[in-house]
Amino acid sequence: MNITLRVWRQKGPDDKGRMVTYQVPDVSPDMSFLEMLDVLNEKLQLEGEEPVAFDHDCREGICGACGVVIDGEAHGPETTTTCQLHMRSFKDGDTITVEPWRAKAFPVIKDLVVDRGAFDRIIQAGGYISAPTGTAPDAHAMPVPKADADRAFDAATCIGCGACVAACPNASGMLFTAAKVTHLGMLPQGQPERQARVIKMVNQHDEEDFGGCTNIGECAAVCPKGIPLDTISQLNRDLLGALASGRTE
Ligand code: SF4
Ligand code: FES
Repeated sequence: MNITLRVWRQKGPDDKGRMVTYQVPDVSPDMSFLEMLDVLNEKLQLEGEEPVAFDHDCREGICGACGVVIDGEAHGPETTTTCQLHMRSFKDGDTITVEPWRAKAFPVIKDLVVDRGAFDRIIQAGGYISAPTGTAPDAHAMPVPKADADRAFDAATCIGCGACVAACPNASGMLFTAAKVTHLGMLPQGQPERQARVIKMVNQHDEEDFGGCTNIGECAAVCPKGIPLDTISQLNRDLLGALASGRTE
């Protein structure tokens, strides 16, 4: 396949940035999208040009690092991560546009790389449990109903990729925050800090300049891990309950 790529190039956070067009010949349909970018970068390096900066780590859909907007869609035409998107999803002769996540809370560092530190700070605000150290408890010491364990596990599959923010017209990080709140809120170990957790995490979300949730649902539609929209309902119920109990933090 011969592909024309329009890629966002931006030297650094203060650079204005612009789209640059490149030709990428001999692309195999079996290549992942990132491998196709590797081919482009090898070509650029051989020509003495600066390679395109993009984020990646595991390349197997579990670390969440590789997010880019492809042809206007977070992670491109399939509901998966960019590293798990393959060139067979495109046609020979296609022109493909690649941009970084666009959100105030995710400033561009360089080219396609954004700073997703805002997500880390939301986790730091409350995405943990306080447990005394010591010998690990027996796995069966604290029974958890199957439905609760399944819902906690499903929420825990959020990889913090940020596609939900990139797809949301409000650039809201609420699906991510809700996944973290739901994960711990469904487990017995998460109960002592449940109310404080939701208040702190939502406050941090708002401080990070994410937009508010207005129930549009684009986040869940693009989420590569299928985090359901009703986790946001659970977050809202937890938040209202915590505020009604008189807590402010
Ligand atoms: S909720 Fe989904 S889209 Fe959002 S960060 Fe988690 S895995 Fe990515
Ligand atoms: S590189 Fe880890 S999810 Fe894509």
